Amino acid sequence: MPVPTIEWKDNRLRVIDQTLLPHKLKFVDCDSAKMVWGVIKNMRTRGAPALGVAAAFGVYLGVRRSKKSIFRDLDRTIQYLSSSRPTARNLFWSLERMKKTAYAHRGKPVQRIKSVLLEEAKRILEEDRAVCRKIGMLGSRLIGDNDNILTHCNAGGLATGDYGTALGVLFAAHSQGKRIKVYVDETRPLLQGSRLTAWELLREKIDTVLICDNMAASLMAAGKIDKIVVGADRIAKNGDTANKIGTYNLALLAHYHKIPFYVAAPLSTIDVNMKSGEGIPIENRQPDEVRKIGNVYIAPKKVDVFNPAFDVTPNKFVTAFITEAGILRKPFTASIKKAFSI
Ligand code: MRU
Repeated sequence: MPVPTIEWKDNRLRVIDQTLLPHKLKFVDCDSAKMVWGVIKNMRTRGAPALGVAAAFGVYLGVRRSKKSIFRDLDRTIQYLSSSRPTARNLFWSLERMKKTAYAHRGKPVQRIKSVLLEEAKRILEEDRAVCRKIGMLGSRLIGDNDNILTHCNAGGLATGDYGTALGVLFAAHSQGKRIKVYVDETRPLLQGSRLTAWELLREKIDTVLICDNMAASLMAAGKIDKIVVGADRIAKNGDTANKIGTYNLALLAHYHKIPFYVAAPLSTIDVNMKSGEGIPIENRQPDEVRKIGNVYIAPKKVDVFNPAFDVTPNKFVTAFITEAGILRKPFTASIKKAFSI
């Protein structure tokens, strides 16, 4: 059953407050661009595709009371929302798409521009839902009966319009009757694996085993992992992939242990203007996220902290990308280029 991650309801953007999961399923209703910025920044809503959807509605909310100054308000809102989180390509892809849509209607009545923007945001949400199902369906062909799969962070329904990318692949395989076991990295510091992925997999009654991040190597050495499937926040045009911190560790381990390493992501995560992973902006987050677990300090309050939210996996460690345009294999520069021309 899909997750109601993000919806347009009663003229507001409704998102699940993911900081409260798995204990409470509560919603936050946003009726301004400022609120949308806040839920993105504080990671109440998170995951690259979901950020793209939230940002699109944020643009509409930022101009819905505009009069003659609609284009000035639009530009300011887009600038403002783009300052929320830097890494996920989908957020910028969506802001660019909303801007293009508005400018294509320049000269039309203000009311018309507003309704076009709302329709475009709804379309971005619907497209994401369809694209994730396609990724799930195509990716499920790579999953065999009795496979043991490792995943990291949360690339599930909570990270997208409602179905997920990496988890979409697993949901689709499970719904086809394949017996799979999924090992879930807890994903420090914010525990998206244990709080969100484990919650989603158990809702679907998928055999789920939670591990601490530092247990992956020994599982692989013991021959207990057949495949790794993760999502992505931004993929450069050569296939270098930014994803949740710790993904690179897994890719290196997979390479050593000769385990296929798949990245599931929509084309909207691929940044065709980014030559390689070196240029991908990596978000650094608050030190207290590492010093604490929940509200409890687990370290001296003054200790220095290194807290990048993402790392970059070099393309050579990726076996294939699972996208709505098909399974993209090496050389990635060519297969990515081809996917965009279809
Ligand atoms: O910081 P987050 O939780 O927004 O990061 C999200 C991730 O890194 C996910 O694992 C992911 O694969 C991208 S969303 C499908």
